[in-house]
Amino acid sequence: MIERVQLDQSSSKHLYIQLYSQLKELIERRKIKSHTKLPSIRKFAKELGVNNVTIVNAYNLLEEEELVYKKVGSGTYVAPIVELKDDIYLDEEVYIDEDTKFIEEKKRGSKEGKIINFATAAPTPDLFPIKPFKRLLNKVLDRDGGYAFGYQKSQGYSPLRKSISQYIGKCQIEASIDEIQIISGAQQGIDILAKTFLDYGDKVFVERPTYPGAISVFKSRHADIREVPIRKDGIDLDLLEEELEKEKPKFLYLMPNFQNPTGYSYSQEKKERILKLAEEYDLLIIEDDCLSDLNYGVGYGENKFLALKAMDKDDRVIYIKSFSKIFMPGLRLAFLIIPERYFDDILLSKYMSDIFTDGLVQRVLDLYFREEFWEDQINKLKQTYQKRYEVMVVALNKYLPQEVKFITPQGGLNLWLELPQGLTVKKLYDKAFAAGVNIAPGTVFYYTQPQEDKVRLSIAAVTEEEIKEGIKRLGKIISKELSNNKDWDNSWMPMV
Ligand SMILES: Cc1ncc(COP(=O)(O)O)c(C=O)c1O
Repeated sequence: MIERVQLDQSSSKHLYIQLYSQLKELIERRKIKSHTKLPSIRKFAKELGVNNVTIVNAYNLLEEEELVYKKVGSGTYVAPIVELKDDIYLDEEVYIDEDTKFIEEKKRGSKEGKIINFATAAPTPDLFPIKPFKRLLNKVLDRDGGYAFGYQKSQGYSPLRKSISQYIGKCQIEASIDEIQIISGAQQGIDILAKTFLDYGDKVFVERPTYPGAISVFKSRHADIREVPIRKDGIDLDLLEEELEKEKPKFLYLMPNFQNPTGYSYSQEKKERILKLAEEYDLLIIEDDCLSDLNYGVGYGENKFLALKAMDKDDRVIYIKSFSKIFMPGLRLAFLIIPERYFDDILLSKYMSDIFTDGLVQRVLDLYFREEFWEDQINKLKQTYQKRYEVMVVALNKYLPQEVKFITPQGGLNLWLELPQGLTVKKLYDKAFAAGVNIAPGTVFYYTQPQEDKVRLSIAAVTEEEIKEGIKRLGKIISKELSNNKDWDNSWMPMV
């Protein structure tokens, strides 16, 4: 298997990081067995045509992550992989209730009692890169000591803002470090923007359906929330213009790529038209982008789904990006890109909220970027999610009756189903839960007049096996309900 290792001398990525990443992958995928002796430093360096130090550095990184162990005078060996047992940790699933508050916390119990959870779009702990994080955390502590725990700049740790400016440049968004504001999660971003811009009764336009966490914030500011329906290629522009003719909102809150909950993305044409409308009507747009890195079938840095911010020549867009779905939600890390005219007001709102975001985690994330682990992190997540997504699409086509409608968004974590007439999501939710499957009822994503025939399914917290099994169970329930409905309908047929 070692023969598979190939280093690219022309890549900007350090050779030892390339070697470490490839060996790590081989070990984690069990392509190299536990206790196998890795090649000696000198031999491996000669074979790969690199310096001995490259091999030493790569082996050291693997050792720090406990993927290999060293025997004095003998060499470096692959460590046995420790399986994480289900009952070692408690996995708390947070579920959003009809009032959009986070209420119901279900503790995961034994294997038999385990619920197949399509309701949450939060990644599970097995996807978190704990070992590299631990190593970088120690590095930060050794390097910065107490400084990591002192008061930090409200705008955020400057080296991290520089790293983010480079990372976001790959998504074709140009942002200087002055325009970047670190925040403690995208939810805080929505909150401080609402605090900055909204007074009692101010109008806010949102997509219908939308992210309930945003609705809660706007409600808390007593804003006048107007919902504009979203179509498969983005918000309905005719209806949006109709609303704009009547009144001007303080801002539009939009998710142009892999929208939550629908998974829909705006067409390029719609993105361009929205920006034109913004100019025409002098609008501010808040673009919430949690998931655009998870566009499947393209490499890191390539993007079929441009952010509005990448096309925003006129500085009409405030961009929010969360690290929760692509790194670890518990770190509470996200950032804003802000046009200059709003710098001071938004900084003040951030300061009033929590003064600054945790300095230690900002420093660790910065090292993640600097030591070039970020690309691996995104690629690994994408690989996992893309497989799940493909399994999900196959299962939906195979097991659900054709009366259930959905589109396949090519990215993100969510799929949005439209149930056949006569089957409400409440009924499906109850029956599915009794069958060990948790779904997110579409009703929670509407501000007014919740639609009863929509379901959001997420692939964030389910394995490929669980997807097949869970969709099979859902399919059975829906088919049964459909045939019951048919019986009922028939009883009203005139006897001819
Ligand atoms: C669209 C959207 N915005 C914001 C958030 C909140 O993200 P964070 O964990 O960064 O606060 C979420 C979380 O699910 C989300 O889906």
